[in-house]
Amino acid sequence: MAVLVTGEKLEILITEAEIASRINTLAEQISTAYEQTNQLVVIGLLRGSFVFIADLVRCLDLPVEVDFMTVSSYGNKMKSSGQLRIIKDVETDLKNRDILIIEDIIDTGHTLSQVISLLETRKPQSLRICTLLNKPSRREVDVDIDWVGFDIPDEFVIGYGIDYAQQGRNLQHIAIVKKP
Ligand code: IMP
Ligand code: MG
Repeated sequence: MAVLVTGEKLEILITEAEIASRINTLAEQISTAYEQTNQLVVIGLLRGSFVFIADLVRCLDLPVEVDFMTVSSYGNKMKSSGQLRIIKDVETDLKNRDILIIEDIIDTGHTLSQVISLLETRKPQSLRICTLLNKPSRREVDVDIDWVGFDIPDEFVIGYGIDYAQQGRNLQHIAIVKKP
């Protein structure tokens, strides 16, 4: 796919091989960081993180539980409305657990900072963040990120689970969406 059905052109930013190699490195670091615990629960923020979390957890050399949360602040637009809605909560009791939140992209930081505030009320033992992509130039709220796959420029991207108006999640690489 080089063009979306809505006409925007796609330009490859990160290849499938680059993603796979980076995930191996992240997984090694995460496995080391959590080697003393058997309380780890990895929470993927749906839908954008579903491919990333699937690849990442299979590289972890640890006992790990997986749960998911769906929050929304975007709708079909390219810009965040800044207001978080919880559409699906986790099913796990997070008290005294070591939580690792898995996000697809951190942009302004609004989504994640609100998710963190919410999950902290559940009294976990620890809470850390891993994001595949990070747009540091777009940050409006400070978020303490523990693991970043790639820092990327201020461009709208899709692929590897990440969408634009529900398109592009099935791409194996990350691509920039170029307006026609
Ligand atoms: P934030 O609240 O501005 O940090 O937005 C984070 C969320 O917006 C991410 O989890 C994505 O779901 C979405 N998002 C931000 N940038 C992009 C993009 O370039 N492509 C697709 N979704 C994006
Ligand atoms: Mg997201």
